Amino acid sequence: MSRLAGKVAIITGAAGGQGAAEAKLFVKEGAKVIATDMQLELLQETVADINETFGEHAVAVQHNITSEEDWKRVVDEAITRFGKIDILVNNAGILGKLSSDVNDYTLDEWNTILNVNATGSFLGMKAVMGEMKKNKSGSIVNISSIAGLVGGQGGVPYQASKGAVRIMTKSAAIDAAAHGVRVNSVHPGTVASPMSNAILAADTQNSAATRIPMGRVGVPEDIAYPVLFLASDDSRYMTGTELVVDGGETAV
Ligand SMILES: NC(=O)c1ccc[n+]([C@@H]2O[C@H](COP(=O)([O-])OP(=O)(O)OC[C@H]3O[C@@H](n4cnc5c(N)ncnc54)[C@H](O)[C@@H]3O)[C@@H](O)[C@H]2O)c1
Repeated sequence: MSRLAGKVAIITGAAGGQGAAEAKLFVKEGAKVIATDMQLELLQETVADINETFGEHAVAVQHNITSEEDWKRVVDEAITRFGKIDILVNNAGILGKLSSDVNDYTLDEWNTILNVNATGSFLGMKAVMGEMKKNKSGSIVNISSIAGLVGGQGGVPYQASKGAVRIMTKSAAIDAAAHGVRVNSVHPGTVASPMSNAILAADTQNSAATRIPMGRVGVPEDIAYPVLFLASDDSRYMTGTELVVDGGETAV
């Protein structure tokens, strides 16, 4: 269990859901992890749980991914504590309001979703790229969504933000390839997490699971393993790629 032995990773949105599962798996696989989130108390609980199980290998840092100053602080913390950055998982994100009428969205609501999901991931790549290029090595995993691959009913701003994450991943990958830095995106389908709990709770007909060929919605660990693969050297010849993890939902 040492696919990330000697590696240092930053994982955003690690207080719960997929980010917490990724932080736990990464530590289990030998990484040192800077786990970040806006929700400090919950993040500290998650990190305490991980460290209790695996030893003191994770650190909790409060972080708003839309703030360039916060990114600088997170990168400084990683270098000070662990001396380098090998991996960034741009996982933090928000869903925002879902409506089938574009007129239901205010410009502020649009800007907020784009700012967190797209600009936040851009700022993350920008923050770590210099360090990774200096080391001629690094893996950035941007968490998009199947919403960034195909259209869906209700959620124009979210879909747009995740589409932006998909295509910025490819351009960043091309630019960084000669410097030894890989950039890939992961596209989860429906995953049970704090983000989707209300939607899934309202889905009394179980229609989400019914439309998925594998017959169930995902759990955070279903996404954490593919993220581990892209973060690790197992995917050393992969960059600019999009890894769909959706139980077959978009294959239909
Ligand atoms: N749950 C799903 O069905 C699903 C499907 C496809 C993609 N995704 C994507 O997967 C990623 C993880 O989502 P999740 O399902 O674990 O949801 P989640 O709500 O459990 O986790 C998101 C985390 O991001 C944090 N966050 C939000 N805004 C932030 C900010 N500005 N700065 C720092 N942290 C911030 C939240 O506090 C939260 O802990 C997101 O990018 C999401 O868009 C989720």
